[in-house]
Amino acid sequence: MKGGAPDRCNVLLAGSGGREHALAWKLRQSPRLGDLWVDPSANAGLLSLGRACPQSLEPRNRFHLERWMEREDIRLVVVGPEALLEQGMADDLHKPPHRMVFGPMRAGARLESDKAWCKQVLRSANVPTAEARTFGRDQLEAALHFVRSRPDPLVVKASGLCAGKGVVVCDTPAQAETAVRDMLERRIHGDAGATVVIEERLQGEEVSVLALVDGSTIWMLEACQDHKRVGERDTGPNTSGMGAYCPTPLATEPLLRQVEREILVPTVDALRREGIDFRGVLYAGLMLTHGGPKVLEFNTRFGDPETQALMMRWRGDLLDTLWRTAEGSLDGAEIAFAPGSSCCVVVCAEGYPGKPRSGDPIEGLDQAEALGSSDMPLACFHAGTKAGSPGPLTAGGRVVGVTAAAPDLRQAAGRASEAASMIRFQGSFFRRDIGHRMLGSR
Ligand code: AMP
Ligand code: GLY
Repeated sequence: MKGGAPDRCNVLLAGSGGREHALAWKLRQSPRLGDLWVDPSANAGLLSLGRACPQSLEPRNRFHLERWMEREDIRLVVVGPEALLEQGMADDLHKPPHRMVFGPMRAGARLESDKAWCKQVLRSANVPTAEARTFGRDQLEAALHFVRSRPDPLVVKASGLCAGKGVVVCDTPAQAETAVRDMLERRIHGDAGATVVIEERLQGEEVSVLALVDGSTIWMLEACQDHKRVGERDTGPNTSGMGAYCPTPLATEPLLRQVEREILVPTVDALRREGIDFRGVLYAGLMLTHGGPKVLEFNTRFGDPETQALMMRWRGDLLDTLWRTAEGSLDGAEIAFAPGSSCCVVVCAEGYPGKPRSGDPIEGLDQAEALGSSDMPLACFHAGTKAGSPGPLTAGGRVVGVTAAAPDLRQAAGRASEAASMIRFQGSFFRRDIGHRMLGSR
């Protein structure tokens, strides 16, 4: 079989959250893994699986980072977060055939980091998405005029990266007006919100379809459903994700084929026409409307917490698959999921999604993990934690992603919630209803 990762491969994993802990957990199961190096700002869970890279990953330190990578013979760099991709980590460090970087170059990452441009690409490729208008930094009055003239509910989005905080889903024109002023006038998101995308508010179920793309081959992973609102029954403000499960029964085989045909393939083709050889994760956030699936957004990285649920039942060598994605030999990869269902429940710190408490001792992680068994695995993936004594401390809004696999969603969600209730720190909370839209009331 052509291509594939070397027999012994030292890996640097960039990013410090729950997604990365889940990736590290799976990478550790690869027979090809040599040394695993993790981000200098890694959480306590990541630090238990790898050694902290002694070099800063910031673009201005590339020279020293490269020298260090050569010394340590790093063959694969796996980039978790979008901000590093936008900063050009793949452009700088991808040196085939010796060293691969998993994650798109800056030009491809723009699909996520520049929502206004993404809309243009989607339109040019005839990909179904919400109707939208874009307004730049000097167009405050035009944007206000537009929202006042539209009685139907709107969504206002900062065009740039805002760590999941740049989208305002509005019920009334007054809310949309405030959101526009916040971004274009008060500049609450700085330059990232200096251009806004204002779009129609779509109705339906949300599904996340993540696909690996190696430039030409597209490999769809199991479809996931995230839970964005902080409160049970989908109430309260948006978060970066309170829990996710996969596979979602909403994504039937015909629907997935439609997503591939009408959304993923035309998007990858449109990128190619722009001269962009996209390699990495193409993550389509979709709304399943009466008129079919429509794109809410594209991300160009693994989702968080979708990845925790995906890794829990991932079969096969993740390291080899990520290498092949970067190399362009994905058709030789072995990708499969264990039967059943997996569910991630995120235990959060008091105050999240506003300013969370931090520095509190976390108890109960071992007891929670003890609920797992070989046929029904369970893991506590660290997100916002840091090493402390005697145990880890909270250090972020989303603290631990308790992730369980089981024969069906009801059991997976039940086990994840049961284990989550064993994790204790000051003011901890989590949603007990992850999966509720599929399970009905529990
Ligand atoms: P995004 O970061 O673009 O995925 O937006 C975050 C969340 O806002 C999504 O997961 C949806 O819940 C919601 N959202 C974004 N765009 C729309 C839209 N056009 N209609 C309805 N909800 C939306
Ligand atoms: N779960 C949402 C995201 O990763 O953007």
